[in-house]
Amino acid sequence: MRVTITVNGERREADDVWEGESLLYVLRERMGLSGSKNACEQGECGSCTVYLDDVTCCACLVAAGQADGRRVDTVEGLNQHGSEGELHPVQQAFVEAGAVQCGFCTPGLLVATHDLLARDPDPDDSEIREALAGNLCRCTGYEKIIDAVRLAAERLR
Ligand code: FES
Ligand code: FES
Repeated sequence: MRVTITVNGERREADDVWEGESLLYVLRERMGLSGSKNACEQGECGSCTVYLDDVTCCACLVAAGQADGRRVDTVEGLNQHGSEGELHPVQQAFVEAGAVQCGFCTPGLLVATHDLLARDPDPDDSEIREALAGNLCRCTGYEKIIDAVRLAAERLR
């Protein structure tokens, strides 16, 4: 089947998509958007978090056909309105707070943090932890990630 998706504001098509193929596979393997990571492919780790029509989801759990005709925004699109080469404030905060180690969880955490701060510009620590509960990190122990979210929130307010 052919799948047409507006990805980061641009209409994209993928042909010969198998019915069971995931949105994550289509993004990474057919559209060359490798920012969303494939770590578990079971909806457990959140490293593949993207927006589907403005609601975050695990792209590994969405069949590509379900995204047909819809909007998807990935980590690559976070800084669409910034200058080229410039990081989004959430990305910058993760770098500065030392919240990136192996980086595998980072794209999903960036999208989840972006979503949290769009809904709640001043979350407390328990709200941050709850919002990021679906995003697993094997490296940082989470403290630096929470620091990064606080820093990003401060800068975006
Ligand atoms: S790869 Fe999708 S939740 Fe882990
Ligand atoms: S930085 Fe390695 S899994 Fe989070």
